Amino acid sequence: MIVVASSNGSVGIQAAVDVLKNGGSAIDAVEAGIRPVEANPEDKSVGYNGYPNLLGEPELDASIMNGRTLETGAVAALSNYTYPISVARRVMETLPHVLLVGDGANRFTTEMGFEQEGSMVSDEMEAIWETRLKKEMSNEVFDSLPDRNDLHEWVRLTTDPRRTYGTTNLIAMDKNGNICSGVSTSGWAWKFPGRVGDSPIIGAGNYADNRYGAATCTGMGEMAIRASTAHSIVFYMKMGYDLQKACREAMLDLNDLGGKYLSVMNFVAIDKDGNHAGYSTQEGRTYIYQTPDMAHFEEVSRTIVDVNQTWKLD
Ligand code: GLY
Repeated sequence: MIVVASSNGSVGIQAAVDVLKNGGSAIDAVEAGIRPVEANPEDKSVGYNGYPNLLGEPELDASIMNGRTLETGAVAALSNYTYPISVARRVMETLPHVLLVGDGANRFTTEMGFEQEGSMVSDEMEAIWETRLKKEMSNEVFDSLPDRNDLHEWVRLTTDPRRTYGTTNLIAMDKNGNICSGVSTSGWAWKFPGRVGDSPIIGAGNYADNRYGAATCTGMGEMAIRASTAHSIVFYMKMGYDLQKACREAMLDLNDLGGKYLSVMNFVAIDKDGNHAGYSTQEGRTYIYQTPDMAHFEEVSRTIVDVNQTWKLD
């Protein structure tokens, strides 16, 4: 039994481990472990008080995958509930679909009886959004944003490659060897309305298969979507690579991505035996893990793989 998470999962990993200790399933552990991150107002990349889109509206993405059955559920651009991981789980368990977006995701959330108390962002976050945008645009442009047809230009100026990451990852393996993986995010700060990242895209930001292992990504979602990063890691293990080699190969695949906008990639992964790994393109990044016999999680450095980073506005 083990739980592995991105370092911002530190507020939830004990809850996930407690589920496993009490004989609960990997699925219950993932939901229990991610919800505290989603509720944490200090974490501005996930759930409540996450960075909003260019119009100041929250749009949350999440997914969950059951490695025993390869069932999955996901939501994208959810705007009416702090806990998208719970909605993603309900999609997986109650619908014949795997991904709901926008108004449909909000509608399903309400139908499931999930109630939001109060606003999804704090006054402080609204002020951060306004201050950041007004560095680039006049008051007149700012006030007219909902009615403009040039948001595609403003989004290029306001989105910051250092804020193309955030997100939380959590992978659990239970006493039966079943693996579940979960990802939740508010996505890029000041993204174009309707932009969906890798977190709810199965194979991109999240993949789990009991037979081989699981992987979950944070970082620039567009890159993980283009390279199918989470699935690649698991697939490389299926092809016989060990966990470290599989992670390294998936990272090196990103060097084949062309184009003008490339940024950071990070992921955590486990193999079918519960060995774990964390990788990043950036120095100084860590991840955490905890087994039921540990009183506290351990925080460890990620292995760095150097990958092309380009950010060209022209
Ligand atoms: N990896 C999170 C996102 O790009 O939205």
